[in-house]
Amino acid sequence: MSPKKHSSILDFYDIEAPYVTEFRRLLHNMYDGRSNGELKTVMLTSAMLSEGKSTICSFLAITAALKKGMKTLIIDSDLRRPTINKIFQLKPKAGLKEILVEGYNPRDAISTTSVDKLDVLTAGGYCENPSEVFDADAMGTLFDELKFYYDLILIDAAPLLPVSDPMLLASKVDGTLLVVKAGATQKEVVRRAVEILNPRQNSVIGVAFNNMNHSLPYYYDYGYYQYEYKDNRKKSAKSISRPDKMQPRKIK
Ligand SMILES: Nc1ncnc2c1ncn2[C@@H]1O[C@H](COP(=O)(O)OP(=O)(O)O)[C@@H](O)[C@H]1O
Ligand SMILES: [Mg+2]
Repeated sequence: MSPKKHSSILDFYDIEAPYVTEFRRLLHNMYDGRSNGELKTVMLTSAMLSEGKSTICSFLAITAALKKGMKTLIIDSDLRRPTINKIFQLKPKAGLKEILVEGYNPRDAISTTSVDKLDVLTAGGYCENPSEVFDADAMGTLFDELKFYYDLILIDAAPLLPVSDPMLLASKVDGTLLVVKAGATQKEVVRRAVEILNPRQNSVIGVAFNNMNHSLPYYYDYGYYQYEYKDNRKKSAKSISRPDKMQPRKIK
């Protein structure tokens, strides 16, 4: 039986699975030996799209909340291709766009999840002009405000090479985690991404390798495999068949 389409990631997260140990390890490594200031806001970005940023961001956030008891918030800052709402199967509601454009109260835009201590701020409604709406300074102010309520804020960002958003956000967060799709992203491409981040304040705190084929269950198919980084939300998602035998598993 193929996995149920449009399931929430929470249906797949298996607290006993080996990948959860990897996410615990990643969290541990993020804080281990860290003496230079607090680490509350962490941006996840990558060189290109579809390297697994949103997936890793979500699994990392669930692990932080469930296994470490950290009050955790995910912010979807990718106004062009938001996915956190789909990953958590959240009903449409105001999000980052409405905060930036309409001055919406952040506390009203945040959604709770069925995981205790895990909240989500989606990108919000359809954004026609993401580059005009994206305001790194306003987002920096928002992060500072929300830090008061959370132990960890993970920012799911756009990729570095196609757009400048994550580069601009890098100086507004405490650290940046670079996601690399192992065996797929070329060395030169990763190098260029690091170059883009390096001159920023508080640049890369680590690299998370994502092995797309073997490490995590396929839980959702966004039809994300495209060559250009552009808004495709008006198009119907192209479905890709996957030879997947995994079944949804409830959090135990
Ligand atoms: N380790 C993995 N194993 C299986 N599928 C994965 C893995 N990481 C990501 N995917 C799938 O790849 C696609 C792109 O991942 P996503 O996290 O949305 O990438 P990004 O946010 O970098 O664009 C999604 O359909 C996701 O379910
Ligand atoms: Mg993404």
